[in-house]
Amino acid sequence: MYSDIQEVLFSEEQIQNKIKELGDQLSTEYEGKNPLVICVLKGAFIFMADLVKQIKVPLEIDFMAVSSYGASTKSSGVVKIIKDLDVPVEGRHILIVEDIIDSGLTLTYLIDVLERRNAKSISVVALFNKPARRTVELEPDYTGYELPDEFVVGYGLDYAEKYRNLPFIGILKPEVYSS
Ligand code: PRP
Ligand code: MN
Ligand code: MG
Repeated sequence: MYSDIQEVLFSEEQIQNKIKELGDQLSTEYEGKNPLVICVLKGAFIFMADLVKQIKVPLEIDFMAVSSYGASTKSSGVVKIIKDLDVPVEGRHILIVEDIIDSGLTLTYLIDVLERRNAKSISVVALFNKPARRTVELEPDYTGYELPDEFVVGYGLDYAEKYRNLPFIGILKPEVYSS
């Protein structure tokens, strides 16, 4: 598995330090607001788990599963809800937790869905951002790291469902997905 990685971009330690910084900011922002923190499955599951431990105010969590990529390295542009939230969002402060923003299509769709359900506020925290790949205008409220336009895996991000369990984020060797 590790031999499929061309280069490590951010180590486990760098990622954890960044998450502590994000947690501090979010702890201030959400004091007294009892936010509903939404994990966008599957990719955000590891980031979600590490992040909520660093947000030191009362909050609730829920999960939503959407997918636009399938086994491809390119977004299909069609976002599917595979699992919806368990709780209503009306009147709630929502924090959407994403692993990465690429084209922006997944989040544009999700934000639209949550706005229609009358959330009180909607913010986005993304651990990784690839602004070079954007096809719609969308910026996260909180960002961990900007990434180059390379196909990256690890720390929740997959290629064909693999590599999510790498504790760091790295560039996948092109021969792995071109073969
Ligand atoms: C990936 C990633 C984001 C989304 C970003 O999810 O986890 O959710 O793509 O891409 P976008 O900005 O172009 O929409 P994917 O659809 O691969 O599902 P997964 O999280 O289950 O891997
Ligand atoms: Mn995802
Ligand atoms: Mg994926």
